Parts: sequence; C-alpha cells; structure tokens
Amino acid sequence: MAFSFRNLLSLLSLITLGVSADLPTLYEYYTEGGINSGLSVDQSYFTLNGKNISIYSGAMHYFRIPPELWQDRLRKLRAAGLNTVETYVAWNIHEPQDGVFDFGDGGTDLGAWADLAGFINLAQQEDLLVIVRPGPYIGADLDFGGFPSWLLKNDGIEVRTNDATFMSYVQRYFDQLLPILSELQFTKGGPIIMVQVENELGFSLRIDTDYLQGVYDMIVAGGIVELLSSCDGIGTWTTGTLPGLLFQTIEVTVDVQGNFGALEELQPNKPLMAMEFYPGWLDHWTDQHQTKDTKAFVDYYEQILAWPGSVNLYMFHGGTSWGFLNGASNGNGDNAQFLPITSSYDYDAPLSEAGDYTAKYDAIRELTQKYSAAETYTPDPPQLIDRRVYSSVDLNGQLTFEDILRQVPDKIESDVTLSMEKLPINQNSGQSYGYTVYRREGLNIPANSVLTITGHVRDTVMVLVNGVLISNALTSSDHLNDFGFWRIENGSITLTTEDLSDATLDLIVENWGRSCYGNIYYQFKGLVDANQVFLNEEELSAWTIYPLEFKQSWNRNLTDWGSVEESQSGPALYKATLAIDDDDITDTFIDMRGWVRGFVIVNGIVLGRYASGLGPQQTLYLPGPWLQKGDNEIIVFEHSLQPGSQIVFSKDSIFNTP
Ligand SMILES: *[C@@H]1O[C@H](CO)[C@@H](O)[C@H](O)[C@H]1NC(C)=O
Ligand SMILES: *[C@@H]1O[C@H](CO)[C@@H](O)[C@H](O)[C@H]1NC(C)=O
Ligand SMILES: *[C@@H]1O[C@H](CO)[C@@H](O)[C@H](O)[C@H]1NC(C)=O
Repeated sequence: MAFSFRNLLSLLSLITLGVSADLPTLYEYYTEGGINSGLSVDQSYFTLNGKNISIYSGAMHYFRIPPELWQDRLRKLRAAGLNTVETYVAWNIHEPQDGVFDFGDGGTDLGAWADLAGFINLAQQEDLLVIVRPGPYIGADLDFGGFPSWLLKNDGIEVRTNDATFMSYVQRYFDQLLPILSELQFTKGGPIIMVQVENELGFSLRIDTDYLQGVYDMIVAGGIVELLSSCDGIGTWTTGTLPGLLFQTIEVTVDVQGNFGALEELQPNKPLMAMEFYPGWLDHWTDQHQTKDTKAFVDYYEQILAWPGSVNLYMFHGGTSWGFLNGASNGNGDNAQFLPITSSYDYDAPLSEAGDYTAKYDAIRELTQKYSAAETYTPDPPQLIDRRVYSSVDLNGQLTFEDILRQVPDKIESDVTLSMEKLPINQNSGQSYGYTVYRREGLNIPANSVLTITGHVRDTVMVLVNGVLISNALTSSDHLNDFGFWRIENGSITLTTEDLSDATLDLIVENWGRSCYGNIYYQFKGLVDANQVFLNEEELSAWTIYPLEFKQSWNRNLTDWGSVEESQSGPALYKATLAIDDDDITDTFIDMRGWVRGFVIVNGIVLGRYASGLGPQQTLYLPGPWLQKGDNEIIVFEHSLQPGSQIVFSKDSIFNTP
C-alpha cells in the first residue's frame, strides 16, 4: 500500500504516545485478577470490576454496515481512543415474518445483517466494551422505529404500549434475543456492560410506564444482570424512566452544563452520561444536507469529558440504511407532513459513511486520550480502504414494467384494495418493503375521465393507462403539491383525452419508509383504508394486486432482459454489467445525478434510493466486498421515462441543496 500522510500521522502519534504498545489492553486492565463485578453506579463515578472508568462510546449499528466491514469500522472506533461501542438491536431484521427469527443463520432476505452475536464478539476481539439498546422500540431513524411491519396485521394493536397482543410478541422476540445477549454479558466474560430499556419513552405520544415496567421485567427475567438504563431528553426524562430501577442517561445537543447540571439534580451521587451526544445529524429528502461544525463539536465534547462525564457519540459512524430500511417522519400521522430519511446515514459523523476519517475523528482521538484516566493501549488508526472510480458502464438490458410484473410470484385478486401489510403473502406477514401494484382491467374510460384517490397516498403513486405512465415524476420538491405524492389529500388526475375501452389501469404505490418517531401508530403503506379509488363518480373494485418486494433472491433471478428501448412508456428496470478484470476490487460510490427517481440494486442487494431533484443525497455507497472479480450486475428501477444513459461512479459522496 502506498505511504500516505495518514501513515505518517500514525507513526508520529505512536512516537508521541511513547510506550503505548507496552500498555495493557482494555480487557487486560479491567479483568485483571478475575471478574467480580460489572458496571457500577453506586457512587458518583462509574466503576467496572471495581476500577474507575469513564465510558467513551461511539454508536454504530451492525445493520447499517456491511458485515464484511464490521471489523474495519470497530477497529477504527477503538483507534479513536474510545473504549465502548453502542448499538441498537433491530427487531425488523431479526423477525422479518411473524414467528420467523434470524440471528445469523436464518437465511432471511436481510439475514446478512442478522449475526448480532458475531458483531458483539468482534467488538470484544477489537478490545471494546459494548452497550446494547434492544428496544423493543429503538427509533434509530429506521423503518417503523425498528418494529416489524407485520405487527400491523393485528387490528387495533397498540405498539409501544402495554397492549396484551403487542406485549406477547415482545415476549416471544425477547425469548429469542435475551439468551444471546445474556451469554455476552461482562460478568460472564463477554463485552456487554450496559443494556438500555426501551428508548426515549419520554418523547412517546402515549407514555405508558406499565409498558416500560413490563419490558424491564422481561429483560430481568431473561437473565440480564448488567446495568440497566434509560435515555431521554431534558424535560421528558422524568416520564421515560423507572426511578430507582433504571440508571438515567440523557441526550445532549448543545448546553452540556445545563443538561448535566439538571441530570445531577435529578439523579444525585451518580455518574453522568450523555447516551446520545450528536456530532452530526441525519438527512431528509427535500431538505438540506446536515452538517455540524467541527469546532463547536469539539468544544461540547471537551466540556463533557472535562465535567468529567461519560458519553456515547450518536453516531460515531452512521453508515447506510440499506435496502428500504430508512425511517421517516410523518407529522400528525395522516402523511401530509411525511418526510422520508435518506438511504445514506452518513450523519456528518466522525467516521464517514464509507469509513473515512474526518477532522472530528482526529479531535476525538486527541481529546479522549487527553482525558482518559485509565492507561490502556490504543491501537493506531488502520489504513483507509481505497476507493475506485470504475469506468462508466453502458446499459445492456431492460425489463419493461409488464416484463417485471410477469416475474412477480404472488398475485392477489381482491374486490377492495389492500394495504401492503394486509396482503396474504410471506406466511400471512404481509409485505414490508418496496412497491405494490394495484391493477384494474377491462375498464371503459371516457375521454377526460378523472381518477381520484381519497386521503393521502402512502407514499407516492404512479398511474399507468394501458402501460403508459401518465403521472408526473418527482423531480423537485414543488411537485409534492401535485397528484401522486403524499402531501395532498384527495388528489386527482385526468386519465386520457380520448375514449378508451377494455383499458388496464395500474397504480404503482411506493412505500418510502415508515415513521420512526412521534406518531408511529398508523403505518400502513400502499393503498390503505382511507384511499378509495374513483373513476369519475364510480368507486373502482376488482383489483389484481402485485407485491413488488425486490428481495435479494428475486432480484438475482430476474430474467428475459430485452434491449434498452429508444423511448420509454413506463417505469422500468435497467441493467448494466460492471466487469472487473483485475484484483483491485474495492469501494466506490454510484453517482445518480443522471437519473431521476428510483433505487439501485447491485448483485441482488438493494443499495438504496435516489431522487436527484430532491437532494441532498446524490450518490450511493457501494462497498467493495459486494463486488467480485468478473461480472457484476447493476440494476436501476427508474420511475420516470428518462433513464440515465450510463452507470457512473464517483470516488466521493456528493450532496447538494435541493
Ligand atoms: C476514582 O475516581 C474518584 C472520583 O474522581 C476518585 O476520588 C478516586 O480516587 C478514583 N480512584 C482511583 C483508584 O483512582
Ligand atoms: C377529502 O374527501 C373527504 C371525503 O371523502 C372529505 O371529508 C375531505 O374534506 C376532503 N378533503 C379535502 C382537502 O378536500
Ligand atoms: C430463483 O430461482 C431458483 C432457481 O430457478 C428458484 O429455485 C427460486 O425459487 C427462485 N427464487 C425466487 C425468489 O424467485
């Protein structure tokens, strides 16, 4: 590997740290003489196994990092001088269908991310302690706050409350999860030092402390003996906890003094911990790219360390909400204020989406080592993974919309439209992600007929008449006030200027991510109960429904590719082949600025969505481990009639202002 400036820095830091290499590892230091006790808050500072410790933690989510790169990211976290990694546990990854569990060997669609124990063990191997936040509600800017969408098939279920139906599902899930976590606890020789019960319950619209108590009881009964905590923001924290049972931690954006001062009053003679301190922030489509000034960050970070307080940097490394896993905000719940989160979860974090060091990273490394009382060995920051700008590739195949539908295995005949979650597929667990097509055949459509969909769509709808797209693509935020998008209620569109008989109408409804905080209760996608479809005055019925899930195995099976047509009539899949004939197989970004609206699949894996006119995200991170020597298949689902002409790569991520 080439000698870089970074190597020089590592070398210099090694020299300045002097005998660093002779210092004990974190585990040598904290487990010396045997393990007698875990993390204690019985005094105004933390002790671990009887020794003082300040927790310097960074958040990274195993479900947002390619498993092949878990080790790289954990090693970079440890090399920043941090001693702990924190992760949420995503229920929707581990129980994708009702009663179907995957903790690494279940072979489910997103099973590559399901080896939770593998991630936690790797953290220990990289000399890190672990904080786990298993929810069951996690928020995490993830689809439905981490809940599996099949919960919604139970009419009247009240998620995130003490509702008996909901709690029985939590118990069944925890019966699988807790034995795994229990084995990995610090006092049993594992890395887990703290487990958080629920998440920010004080922000819930239906604060239910019986529910919190119920979750606490399950966690204790499940054999978790390490420190149990809660986390909330100032002002909400008294309602989101169980006084005396849970160690309270807080969220800090600014004003370290004010937050820590208030926490100290609320919970005297205990250590102070900011479980979420934000070095950056998340991005929403239609919004600006969020960044946080390094100088301000460093200032607050130092105030926390100097207090002396403990901290979890949320996020230390954000990564990517792969596939369709991004969450959203939906305001008051009717979708009028729906605001989806981008696939990139770069977060302007100290370690970028692709694992690059930033100025914040360097500052953390310096400050953490300055304030750390325990003298333990801090490894050097590992070499960065090179990125490559592969040559642009031409499109070499197309599936028209009709070609796509022919390959959908399930086809549901229904008098009424059904929401995704109510479709009788996936062993009656419904459809979680992707698009649902509602087809009505044999229609007589007089000239100038008006199609109306009552309510707000969830979340976008494309209208095809006889296979021809007649609704507008979403090329700018202004279009959100038009038919086809979530903002307007009772939207309508004129279908044709001529009389049509025996026509086929397709409504392609896209799920752009379920709400992850605030109003999370009504989360149905597709055409939901409020969405009646009218042709002029007549309500339409007799639908054929096609779930378009884009699961990995299905994506890899796609066949019958035709050549790319000169002009397009509807949304379509476009294929390109990236042939790599050397051994330089490494990370890259795909630049989607030449495309309009859709998502990208590489070798079967859905990388994420693009919406070039909506900003801020313009590129999709493509990790090297998902590429292979030889041919790699890149597929784009483009909503509009203007596909890009090529697949173009970029060395770096690109953000713009919509
Ligand atoms: C642990 O920290 C407390 C509070 O700062 C201090 O009083 C005590 O001396 C420390 N103990 C050791 C062994 O350093
Ligand atoms: C939408 O239609 C419903 C009846 O279907 C009506 O109650 C509501 O007021 C309408 N909303 C708007 C904004 O027109
Ligand atoms: C993919 O194709 C294989 C072999 O033809 C078949 O066994 C499998 O069921 C297909 N998978 C999907 C999801 O269609």
